[in-house]
Amino acid sequence: MIDSTLEYLRGGVSSEAARPIDLASVIETIVDEHLDQGHKISLTGLNAAPILGRVLPLKRAFSNIIGNAVKYGASADVAITEANGQVVVTVEDQGPGIPPAEIGRVFHPFVRLEKSRGRETGGSGLGLTIAQAVAQSHEGSIALENRSEGGLRVIVSLPRLDRPTRSDAPRL
Ligand SMILES: Nc1ncnc2c1ncn2[C@@H]1O[C@H](COP(=O)(O)OP(=O)(O)O)[C@@H](O)[C@H]1O
Ligand SMILES: [Mg+2]
Repeated sequence: MIDSTLEYLRGGVSSEAARPIDLASVIETIVDEHLDQGHKISLTGLNAAPILGRVLPLKRAFSNIIGNAVKYGASADVAITEANGQVVVTVEDQGPGIPPAEIGRVFHPFVRLEKSRGRETGGSGLGLTIAQAVAQSHEGSIALENRSEGGLRVIVSLPRLDRPTRSDAPRL
């Protein structure tokens, strides 16, 4: 609790400089960790997703989102796609979702919904607050929606890094 409060006070953003990274490999590492712990989780989509990013905050953000899916939704289906110059990471579960009236509130610090209270796997209610701060600090966004099939869908969009192509490189 104290650790995550300190993390929240730091805004979930480290002093690490943003550098070109492959978000797909960050996600893959988190998915592997959850698989090792015996969780039901799948990963599909792009094998490479270049962004300008800070690895530690991104790991923290996606660990929480994927952790929420397995904790509240029992399984996680993670997909990495690309649209309109954005890398889009979608995390879907088959849990209860979030009542529409509460869906904006769960981004607020310390908000945990009634059903989560007193769970032995309980958290601090800071995970989504941090995930949103991290997405925004990368000029990205996070959105939540209930799936029509049931369960929650979390969508994180971050600007894709377009490396200069050979023809753009200065001629020497
Ligand atoms: N995938 C999900 N399915 C259902 N409810 C969720 C999901 N993710 C988050 N929530 C709800 O949003 C609340 C806030 O999430 P979060 O900020 O990660 O805090 P924590 O997991 O520490 O409780 C959770 O307590 C839970 O009630
Ligand atoms: Mg959480």
